Amino acid sequence: MTAMSASHTRFVQLSADEFRARLREALDIYVSAMRYPAGTAEQRAPMWLTHALREGWRCIAALDADGRLLGLAYGYRGSPGQWWHEQVRRGLLKAAGEHAATHWLTDYFELTEIHVRPASQGLGIGEDLLRRLLDGVPHQHVLLSTPEGTSRAWKLYRRVGFADVLRDYHFAGDPRPFAILGRTLPLPDSGATGTCDSH
Ligand SMILES: CC(C)(COP(=O)(O)OP(=O)(O)OC[C@H]1O[C@@H](n2cnc3c(N)ncnc32)[C@H](O)[C@@H]1OP(=O)(O)O)[C@@H](O)C(=O)NCCC(=O)NCCS
Repeated sequence: MTAMSASHTRFVQLSADEFRARLREALDIYVSAMRYPAGTAEQRAPMWLTHALREGWRCIAALDADGRLLGLAYGYRGSPGQWWHEQVRRGLLKAAGEHAATHWLTDYFELTEIHVRPASQGLGIGEDLLRRLLDGVPHQHVLLSTPEGTSRAWKLYRRVGFADVLRDYHFAGDPRPFAILGRTLPLPDSGATGTCDSH
């Protein structure tokens, strides 16, 4: 997997303490990768710290030769009572019914964040982060949400076999439409991406 990525990139799993120590650096990448306004980092910091306390939380970081953060991906076990879980459940019940909600939400890992510094995008770091994050995750499914529209993130998710779970969904308090994408775990090796629905 490392051979696919930019040379000199090192991938490490961060402990919660290491994540907290790099929080400012991680949020800087998030804000620049998502092109969010200044001030977003301040707003997100408490949420990211809370996430790091959740069951099954894990985080993979990509570092350059000097140990600077080039990107990161994290997630945790999705559970009833979590805001995202309840929002997605509400949407799935409405759009697809109880069976679909139970199928997707009983045993899953929520891929919460994946971001690569803009200058380092397009080199395979994102796919490497995603594969390493999901490697060995002991759940049946992985789920994520992403804004509707064409983006590099969409290409990456499709490439590794994420299918539609819910489309054009509006989370409470956010005017943007989102897609919820998911797939079974484990991920197949790169080059054999398995099921991927039409889009
Ligand atoms: C989405 C994101 C994490 C993907 O990370 P990335 O490192 O850019 O992704 P990858 O390099 O693995 O794949 C992206 C492209 O690089 C190409 N690529 C992969 N390996 C490569 C290599 N060795 N050499 C050159 N290109 C390569 C891929 O084919 C892909 O090309 P495409 O986008 O034209 O299809 C990153 O682009 C990002 O941070 N985007 C903004 C934030 C964001 O949208 N986050 C997700 C929110 S839901």
